[in-house]
Amino acid sequence: MRKIRTIRDANLKGQVVLVRVDYNVPMENGVITDDLRIRASLETLKFLREKGAKKIVLISHLGRPEGKDKNLSLAPVAKDLAKLVSDVSFIDDVSGPDVSAAVERLKDGGILLLENLRFYSGEEENSEDFIREIVDSVGASVFVQDGFAVVHRAHASTDAIGNILPIYAGLLLEKEIANLEKAMENPARPLLLIIGGSKVEDKAPLIEKFSKIADQIVVGGKIAADGYEPKEKIYVAEDFDEDGEGNKLDVGPVSTAKIAGFITDAKTIVWNGLMGKAEDPAFSTASTIVAEMMGEKEDAETIICGGDTTGFVEELVKTHPNLKYSLISTGGGAALQFLLGKELPGIEKIFIS
Ligand code: 3PG
Repeated sequence: MRKIRTIRDANLKGQVVLVRVDYNVPMENGVITDDLRIRASLETLKFLREKGAKKIVLISHLGRPEGKDKNLSLAPVAKDLAKLVSDVSFIDDVSGPDVSAAVERLKDGGILLLENLRFYSGEEENSEDFIREIVDSVGASVFVQDGFAVVHRAHASTDAIGNILPIYAGLLLEKEIANLEKAMENPARPLLLIIGGSKVEDKAPLIEKFSKIADQIVVGGKIAADGYEPKEKIYVAEDFDEDGEGNKLDVGPVSTAKIAGFITDAKTIVWNGLMGKAEDPAFSTASTIVAEMMGEKEDAETIICGGDTTGFVEELVKTHPNLKYSLISTGGGAALQFLLGKELPGIEKIFIS
C-alpha cells in the first residue's frame, strides 16, 4: 500500500492551519438533513487543537452555485459545527483584509469557516492565484486536505493548492484511503461486493473492476430488476417485491436469504447502492437486512459507500446504535473513482513516492 503524508507528520504547534473539508451537505429550506460530513471532520479538528495549532481556517464548497447564491452559503453549516465543537466563527468571504482580521481575532485553537469556495470562479478554474490569495489572507503555513468527497475534482483547493503549500492528509482522508485501499489491494477474504441502485452505467465499471479482485459480487436494486446478467462470481437477485402495478421495488425473500449467506461468509464487504426503493418502508426490507447484518459482523471489514447507501445506514444507526461499520464513506463520486483505481487530483501530492 502507498504511504501518505498525514497531519501526524506535520509540525502544527503555533501554526495557522488551512483545512479543506467537504461540507457539501444536503439541505432543505436552510436546514441540514444529514450532517455525516460535518461530524466526520471533528476528529481532525480535535487533533489539530491537541497538537497546538494556533488557528484553524476551514474551506469548503456547498452545492454547485452559479456565482454567489445566498441559498448555498456555508453560514448554516458553521452554526451546525458550532453545536459540535467550541469557538467556531464564520465569515462571508474567502480572502482580503476582512478575512485577515477575522483570523487575527480568533483565539488560540479557534476555528473560522470561510464562505463557499464555489461563489468564486477561481475555485473550479483551478486557479493558483485564487488559492494563493486565500492562503495569504489567512496567513496559513500548513495545508490539510480532509475533504475526501471532493478529491476527484481538480479544483484550486484540491489541486492548485499543492503548488503553494505542502499538503498533509487529515485523519478522515487517511481513514478513507486506508480502508478503501485495503479492501482493494489486501482484503481479508472472502471479499464480497454488494451493488445496488438504479444507474447501470455508473455501476457496471465497478462490477467489472471487482470481478477481477472480489470472491463474490451481488447485484440488487433496480439494476437487478432491469435484468443485469449473472456471470461467474456475480449473483443477481432473482425475485422481487412488487407494488400493485408490478414494479419490482425491492429484492425478494429468496434472493435476500442468498445474499445473507454471502454476508455471513465474507471477511471484507463493500456495499454501494440500495437493494430497493428503500426510502419507502414497504420496500426497505432487503436493504435493512444487508445493513443490519453488516453492522453486526465483528469478523469482517465493512465498508459502506455512495450517498444513498450511507444516508440509509446513518438513519438506521440512529435507532440501532449497536450497528458498527469499519467505514461509512463520506465520498460518493470520490469513493467510486478511488475503487475504480482512478487517479484523484486531490490526493496525488499526498503520496510519498
Ligand atoms: C460530492 O458531494 O460528491 C462532493 O462534494 C463533490 O461535489 P460535486 O459533485 O458538486 O463536485
